[in-house]
Amino acid sequence: MNRPTDPHSLTQAATPVGTHAGYMPGFGNDFETEALPDALPQGMNSPQRCNYGLYGEQLSGTAFTANPPERTWCYRIRPSVKHSHRYEKIDLPYWKSAPCIDPDVISLGQYRWDPVPHSDEGLNWMTGMRTMTTAGDVNTQVGMACHIYLVTESMVDDYFFSADSELLVVPQEGRLRFATELGIIDLEPKEIAIIPRGLLYRVEVLEGPARGFVCENYGQKFELPGRGPIGANCMANPRDFKAPVAAYEDRETPSTVTIKWCGQFHTTKIGHSPLDVVAWHGNYAPYKYDLRNYCPVGAILFDHPDPSIFTVLTAPSGQPGTANIDFVLFRERWMVMEDTFRPPWYHKNIMSELMGNIYGQYDAKPQGFVPGGTSLHNMMIPHGPDREAFDKASYSNLGPEKLDKTMSFMFETRFPQHLTPFAANEAPLQDDYIDCWTSLEKKFDGTPGKK
Ligand SMILES: [Fe+2]
Repeated sequence: MNRPTDPHSLTQAATPVGTHAGYMPGFGNDFETEALPDALPQGMNSPQRCNYGLYGEQLSGTAFTANPPERTWCYRIRPSVKHSHRYEKIDLPYWKSAPCIDPDVISLGQYRWDPVPHSDEGLNWMTGMRTMTTAGDVNTQVGMACHIYLVTESMVDDYFFSADSELLVVPQEGRLRFATELGIIDLEPKEIAIIPRGLLYRVEVLEGPARGFVCENYGQKFELPGRGPIGANCMANPRDFKAPVAAYEDRETPSTVTIKWCGQFHTTKIGHSPLDVVAWHGNYAPYKYDLRNYCPVGAILFDHPDPSIFTVLTAPSGQPGTANIDFVLFRERWMVMEDTFRPPWYHKNIMSELMGNIYGQYDAKPQGFVPGGTSLHNMMIPHGPDREAFDKASYSNLGPEKLDKTMSFMFETRFPQHLTPFAANEAPLQDDYIDCWTSLEKKFDGTPGKK
């Protein structure tokens, strides 16, 4: 006869393990969180009257019929219609959207920039955005833009959202706070954040000046890459992504909301803070990820795999295996391959590759690609190790070697990237970059044997 288990024989966990204060773990989970007790309706989304007199409202990040749909139910002090009034167009001349093709700018080529310096001018998250490249078309929701942000000032009674895009934020210097409708994300170098399309927020400087990179994704949302034969473990593990818990403010003060919509900017004036979501549940939320949690997988006997082995997040384009954007991380790792040219090989690629250096030295370019710097190797434009890296990799004795104290990344897109006038004319372009391959000499003379 089966007897029920004695409930007193089980020791139950008291609190979740491994969570960080203010965040909930998991990638794309159906989260639920409330900043006041019983603010979140249970068992239904839309009760006749919400607790505390809150308004229920759905934020849809996908079409209703997408599979799976991504949406979040918000319970807020005012419905969003109260955070929107008449609109006025404004100009943010350095924040460009695709298509942005200047007939006087040559995008075809290999380009590299030193870090864009801070200016004496006070800049916030919106005025400090400097677009380097654009790809695709914001109006058809394909492609992306790459930006560098230079932020010295917090937004005060000033809020922003992009209807065009989700933003992947990669800090390189300084610390920022993203106070969003769905909670607070604090961000520092070696971490990344995703701010979804349509989500309102303000950005505060916790430690400045702040500089970093942004990939503006016009298309389908970032997701975890397929793992194929790698299986369930390593790379970016879902548990290491963190969504914020609910946070709200009830502040009656004249405020401005700026909206990026079809590549143009508009403002609307309201009399209160729109960060008034007291409770929410759903799977459409901002999140952060610590890149130090990324577990790289690579070659352990010979040869050099494609860089896609280091993909952290991918945004599909509709063509399987051909991303609108791949976000790829080159972090500390061991190199152990035998009888192998270990750095990235020379190549041409249908995808176009924008790289940024977060800190340290990148193995294919020991000099010149410095922290805060950027490089672009556009669609089908050849590139590879410079002379110094080639010689070192070709003639050194190969033992296990750790690439240490290094972290670079790549925004790789199936679409060609067009330089903005800022990238071509104002940013610190290294005019001599292509000279890094000049001294690679012809070694072939018809004699067999490795040279
Ligand atoms: Fe490449």
